[in-house]
Amino acid sequence: MKNIGILLSGRGSNFEAIARNVAAGKIPAKIALVISNREQAPGLKRARQMGLKTLFISPKGKEREAYDQEVVTALKVAKVDLVCLAGFMRILSPVFVRAFPGRILNIHPALLPAFPGLDAQKQALDYGVKFTGCTVHIVDEGMDTGPIVLQAVVTVLDDDTEESLSARILKEEHRIYSEAVCLMLEDKVRIEGRRTVLRQ
Ligand code: GAR
Repeated sequence: MKNIGILLSGRGSNFEAIARNVAAGKIPAKIALVISNREQAPGLKRARQMGLKTLFISPKGKEREAYDQEVVTALKVAKVDLVCLAGFMRILSPVFVRAFPGRILNIHPALLPAFPGLDAQKQALDYGVKFTGCTVHIVDEGMDTGPIVLQAVVTVLDDDTEESLSARILKEEHRIYSEAVCLMLEDKVRIEGRRTVLRQ
């Protein structure tokens, strides 16, 4: 049985979607550890309620590399095979990325490479695109730049607000993140340069 490690900073709905699918036997793995950089993150509280092993690692007064090394050590001790960033609002240093090469997934609420960084849904609305969506990608040393595993398209409606659009994107996030986690755990994702080739 493979081990998943989750990193989150806030609400944790993507984490919950993954946890539900693990509990239902749809994801063949165990959530070995949930880590947050925010002590009060609702997602961390939820993980505790679910009886999962959780860890708050405070970033206060720590250099990025030192912080990341602490997180890496905790994930290694928990024998994590796949790291899932689920609304983890920190940029990972090379120390982290190199500790889990090709083994870190991130979810982003836009069709990358469009609208990387923060407030992707607002960026899409402000730009006036007719379609946006979400992306699950493998994390490399850039910001939101790694090879794409799955994407889902969401139509932008004329009367959309940031909230209404975000809610429809989130629904798709929950669906494709678990799907991508399964593909990774089952070694069905081959990375070829910028592209991934999926074996169904
Ligand atoms: C999600 O929409 C996720 O795509 C986004 O943060 C939200 C976290 O929600 N991530 C990013 O913007 C990363 N750049 P959640 O805590 O309910 O999963």
